[in-house]
Amino acid sequence: MTAAAPQAAAQQEGARRLRAGVIGLGWAGQQHLAAYAADPAVDLVALSAMEEHLLERFGEEHRVPGRYRDWRQMLAEAELDVVSIATPTFLHAEMAIAALEAGVHVLTEKPMAQTGEAAASMVEAARRAGRVLEVSFNHRRRGDVTALKTVIDSGVLGDIYYAKTGWIRRQGIPGLGTWFTKAESAGGGAMMDIGIHMLDMTLHLLGEPGVTAASAMTHAEFGPRGRGGSGFGVSQLEDGAPFEVEDLATAFLRLDGGATMLLESSWAQWIPEDLCYVTLYGADGGATIEWAGGPGNHRITVWTEVEGIPAELSPQVGEDRGHAGAIAEFLQAVRSGDVAAHDGSLALRRARVIDACYASAAAGAEVAVEG
Ligand SMILES: NC(=O)c1ccc[n+]([C@@H]2O[C@H](COP(=O)([O-])OP(=O)(O)OC[C@H]3O[C@@H](n4cnc5c(N)ncnc54)[C@H](O)[C@@H]3O)[C@@H](O)[C@H]2O)c1
Repeated sequence: MTAAAPQAAAQQEGARRLRAGVIGLGWAGQQHLAAYAADPAVDLVALSAMEEHLLERFGEEHRVPGRYRDWRQMLAEAELDVVSIATPTFLHAEMAIAALEAGVHVLTEKPMAQTGEAAASMVEAARRAGRVLEVSFNHRRRGDVTALKTVIDSGVLGDIYYAKTGWIRRQGIPGLGTWFTKAESAGGGAMMDIGIHMLDMTLHLLGEPGVTAASAMTHAEFGPRGRGGSGFGVSQLEDGAPFEVEDLATAFLRLDGGATMLLESSWAQWIPEDLCYVTLYGADGGATIEWAGGPGNHRITVWTEVEGIPAELSPQVGEDRGHAGAIAEFLQAVRSGDVAAHDGSLALRRARVIDACYASAAAGAEVAVEG
């Protein structure tokens, strides 16, 4: 295929409806199928999952004709234009590469893959196929984040040289004793699962500086004792099911141009309620977004001065777009035909940072982030 061929094919796609499929029908997959089902320019034609009852329930609810236990059969038969992959993390690379090689544009859930190496193989496949590869970072589409991004881009904060960010749950280890807490299938724990949202969100707010080095530490104090899932103090580990990942990680990151970031993430902690925040320190102003206790409680505050008068601003929180926003932007990328700008390389950079954090924690030393 010539370089112009994928572009031309993509332009044609802009003129017609898109046929969509979803692999994986857990919480994440349900967000994707709801967004496709709500888009009048998309035909949701196929679903794949291991659970027969979910295939039937969502297949009936959204009148989806193709229902597959075997995702490879779905790719072979359903004539998809786009597919969302919302399966356990260790399956993302294999499924994405197969879909891309079949000529299908891919939106995969975060984290992109369990290692930077696996993520890099996905980017290579997208470039070879001339197809879009995107990763669903729904939290950067939150109303507080989009509003603060507008404030930052107006220049009010000046040069931002330090950021602190974190997501600490009161209790919330996902799937204690399932693929989520096994090293090989999840690739990591709290940092890989929720720290990556804060990393993505903060780098996005900062205007995408490169991350050059990481110094990190991990701990597992709750999971190995069967604590920290839903129902505090009650072991939810199946007999013998391992807890092999961290439930708390901290990282100090060096950014291009001398700025730094502190990143903390924890699935369970002795705090009164969940905490999710970004604090930015700029030459001309500071800002923070807080999300305490749940999605309804976002707050943005900006501190600066106007004509020498100290000023505290409370920008209005915008509309929460979440997964709907991520999926709309993915479809827009497919329709635009600009595959070069959507080859998964931004998410790969996130994966490399997480790799460096785990390598640093293992080595007990600062580690350079692979470029
Ligand atoms: N963006 C977010 O906010 C967010 C939230 C939750 C989960 N996630 C991510 O989404 C992914 C899935 O998480 P989840 O919580 O929905 O997981 P889950 O375990 O609840 O569901 C996984 C789904 O994948 C399906 N599946 C597994 N193997 C399959 C196979 N071989 N063929 C077809 N289907 C298969 C299962 O049948 C199930 O329907 C993970 O990567 C996770 O990190 C993202």
